[in-house]
Amino acid sequence: MLCWFLAACACVGTSLGVEFAVGQKFQIVLSGIPNLDTPLVPADAPVYDIDLEGTSAETITAMKAMGKTVICYFSAGTVENWRPDANKFAAADMGSVLKEWPNERWLKLSSDNVRSIMKTRIQNAATKGCDAIDPDNTVNENLTLINDHLDGYQNTNGLNLKEADTIDYMKFLSSFAASLGLQTGLKNSLAILPNISNIVQFAVNEQCAQFQECEQYDDFIKSGKPVFHIEYPAKAPQVTDAEKKTDCQSTGMVGFSTVLKTMSVDGWVGYCDGSSATTSTSPGGEPPKPPKSTTTAPITTPRTTSKPTPTKTTSSTTRKPTTTAPGGGGSPGGCTQKHWDQCGGNDWKGCTVCAAGFQCKGVSPPWYYQCL
Ligand SMILES: *[C@@H]1O[C@H](CO)[C@@H](O)[C@H](O)[C@H]1NC(C)=O
Ligand SMILES: *[C@@H]1O[C@H](CO)[C@@H](O)[C@H](O)[C@H]1NC(C)=O
Repeated sequence: MLCWFLAACACVGTSLGVEFAVGQKFQIVLSGIPNLDTPLVPADAPVYDIDLEGTSAETITAMKAMGKTVICYFSAGTVENWRPDANKFAAADMGSVLKEWPNERWLKLSSDNVRSIMKTRIQNAATKGCDAIDPDNTVNENLTLINDHLDGYQNTNGLNLKEADTIDYMKFLSSFAASLGLQTGLKNSLAILPNISNIVQFAVNEQCAQFQECEQYDDFIKSGKPVFHIEYPAKAPQVTDAEKKTDCQSTGMVGFSTVLKTMSVDGWVGYCDGSSATTSTSPGGEPPKPPKSTTTAPITTPRTTSKPTPTKTTSSTTRKPTTTAPGGGGSPGGCTQKHWDQCGGNDWKGCTVCAAGFQCKGVSPPWYYQCL
């Protein structure tokens, strides 16, 4: 009897509540909050990733009563100026504005104040009954850029410091979450996946199929941890056969939990078996992203698509779907752009024709298009 008791204790002591499993079907809704006045669909998805701040404890409790595992999303590496606790960040905590999202600024991950605010958010997740957290934006654009780009930089102290910062921050988030019985996922941030695989219980990835980097999760999946994977077909809910092939059958996707979503990450979801569903939502969560001023200079080096070689570690970032460039421009002087070069966007006066084998695609339309 005592043995049984001790064994049970050990079991409870080492587990963090719910068990995630490779291949679990999931749904993610960040624009809007699931509205439980109507039956929750997709009914057969056991895992839901929803906005922490906008979702009430009542909704989370009700979802758990339906047997759902609830992952609560928040931005851990940026301040979103519409969140109720945004005014708690000190000026010194905040860095540059995100290139694609003018209402968000990067945070200083080593700041005690930032960490204290994140502790409050994670505490809130525990109080509301979330099973896990999905802390977004933990790798900043400079680190991603450097990792994407240049071998030379990889030996600089600057990079190592930044990489160590972000690894330390993930350790801080996941250990505080674990102390409250919450599990933690790694959002994108492939640059640090090997460093923190053992302290997260799942991953959330955006666009690894589009950028052909899903195989970087091979060891992670083999270790029994799921990859909740999101792709953004250009005209979702309409999905072309070509997109479906890329998004659902890219190398390294065996065992993935894949969803197809619109850029706003609303209630609609498509799956690789051809099924789709629309989760009913009420307002809340992420507000629609405001359009960026057209006077803004074109982005010269977007981090998501700068991938000189397929073997480089890269990190996708949040919600930057690709759409095909509208129109198709001229070719002043018969020029062509190489792979990865800019080929369009607001105020772009240069060449709009891509070398053979590449297409001019919007990585941050309408501001930036690139030969991919
Ligand atoms: C990226 O580097 C630039 C130039 O050094 C700096 O101004 C900016 O604050 C950095 N951004 C982040 C998020 O660290
Ligand atoms: C992260 O992991 C990589 C690859 O395993 C290693 O080279 C690097 O030194 C690690 N970074 C830190 C800061 O521990």
